[in-house]
Amino acid sequence: MNWLKKQKCGSVPVKQVPAHIGIIMDGNGRWAKKRGLPRSAGHSAGAETFKKIVRYCSKIGVKHLTVYAFSTENWKRPAAEVTFLMGLFEQYLNDALKDFEQRNIRVVFLGDKSAFSPNLQRLIADIEQASQSKTGMVLNVAMNYGGRSEIIRAAKAIASDVKDGKFSVDAIDEKVFANKLYTAGQPDPDLIIRPSGEKRLSNFLLWQSAYTEFVFMNVLWPDFSEKDLDLAIAEYAARNRRFGGV
Ligand code: FPP
Repeated sequence: MNWLKKQKCGSVPVKQVPAHIGIIMDGNGRWAKKRGLPRSAGHSAGAETFKKIVRYCSKIGVKHLTVYAFSTENWKRPAAEVTFLMGLFEQYLNDALKDFEQRNIRVVFLGDKSAFSPNLQRLIADIEQASQSKTGMVLNVAMNYGGRSEIIRAAKAIASDVKDGKFSVDAIDEKVFANKLYTAGQPDPDLIIRPSGEKRLSNFLLWQSAYTEFVFMNVLWPDFSEKDLDLAIAEYAARNRRFGGV
């Protein structure tokens, strides 16, 4: 089906679309500051961008999209900002429920959910439950997520399985380990995009990003558009991935 391969969605040829994209949604605070607005206004604008980019990724055929919404370190922010963000997550996830349903999107949450309010935990459980049979894009929302704590959690789970005699120490390999991560069963990200000009991983998908291509962009997340995603994908498609080979 050559015609299908050449078909374009937006300006991205279908064959160039990475199977798994990760996005560090950064720059909301600076976006607000530039406009003399409170940081919360930046997060609200960022949540709109989240909605727009999820739709676009699903439209162009991305199979897995992982967004970094709240890290294990983000609790250090002022209480008012954390409270605002939690409210925003509730509001957007509630609103998005129907949208995800219509678009056949399966939603998975990466991170320790136990720290969230009972309401938010219920909403997360409802969304995961309602969307688990969906066959379209998998949307991973990383909330109270940290790569290091994910790795420690996996190590503990494996240690406990060994202790219970489920398998031997010698049987532990990369596959066994990956299957204990929040992303179990999903492919590693091909591309991670970080807008806002910062050039670091900030504890995002540490294990999974061993061979990921990174694209750093200067645009602030609330201004991030479909065109920016196209540009990041075009840069990714021009890279030569060797996975340690030649
Ligand atoms: C980082 O920008 C952004 C966050 C910590 C929050 C991200 C959350 C959203 C975009 C809302 C998404 C909504 C859902 C439902 C997933 P920053 O505040 O660190 O920006 P700064 O570096 O400019 O201060």
